[in-house]
Amino acid sequence: MFFVRRYKIERTDPDTPAIDPEVAAHLADSYPHNHNVEIVSDALIAKRKLAARYKRITRLYPEPVSSLLDVSCSKGFFVADAAVRPSCKRALGIDIDDNDLRACEAIKAFLPADRARFIKLQLHELAERIGGFGGPFQTSLVINSYQYFYFGSSRSSDCYLDHREIFHMLRQVCDGRVIFSNRMELNRVQTYCKQAAERHGHDERRYSTETAMAAASEFFEVTRQGKLGNLPIWTLNAR
Ligand SMILES: C[S@@+](CC[C@H](N)C(=O)[O-])C[C@H]1O[C@@H](n2cnc3c(N)ncnc32)[C@H](O)[C@@H]1O
Repeated sequence: MFFVRRYKIERTDPDTPAIDPEVAAHLADSYPHNHNVEIVSDALIAKRKLAARYKRITRLYPEPVSSLLDVSCSKGFFVADAAVRPSCKRALGIDIDDNDLRACEAIKAFLPADRARFIKLQLHELAERIGGFGGPFQTSLVINSYQYFYFGSSRSSDCYLDHREIFHMLRQVCDGRVIFSNRMELNRVQTYCKQAAERHGHDERRYSTETAMAAASEFFEVTRQGKLGNLPIWTLNAR
């Protein structure tokens, strides 16, 4: 565990009731494992894997961060971290998993009132209604979830199957910088996605780094920034 201050989010409202033990257990240890936190003396502390990712990802943030959107927020740590940055006026996390969203709601006790929102929403729904969320966000995270937007997942079979459509929606919800690190080769995606690819007659040429980044380039200036774990990471600056 890390106790360095930036990886730690302290509870801002001591009057909020304690977190439900089941939700606390989910926050501490569940899939995805790289998103787990410890609750210690009324603070959320990123576990080792999340702390390392935190460092790598936040180094790519524009300075200062004025608003942040995580389009697959899981347990919400990056949204929570953004919400406690004084420069960040709004932070939004969307996801489709009820357990994760319950954990996100519990995390809200650690955050200044009204800075962070977590909501069950799909990307196209957010793009359609972005005005209702204060307009496009300055900074947006698309980490470890692009394949689910593209092919669907065991959590939802809804999918877009089109790089251009996804990057167009990302441009609608983000007018600054998208930070993007995902499985971009068909042989690296989860079984569900592989099966979906087969059902839809996709071969590796359609789902690849090259095709995705070519589509992204219409809306963003694409820059490779090294690796996040064993996956490449890019910054996409809105055109
Ligand atoms: C592997 S986890 C990655 C979580 C987080 N972005 C990270 O990197 O730690 C994938 C997340 O994407 C979410 N997800 C899957 N399909 C989604 C969709 N269509 N819209 C939003 N979130 C989705 C899952 O519920 C899960 O929380």
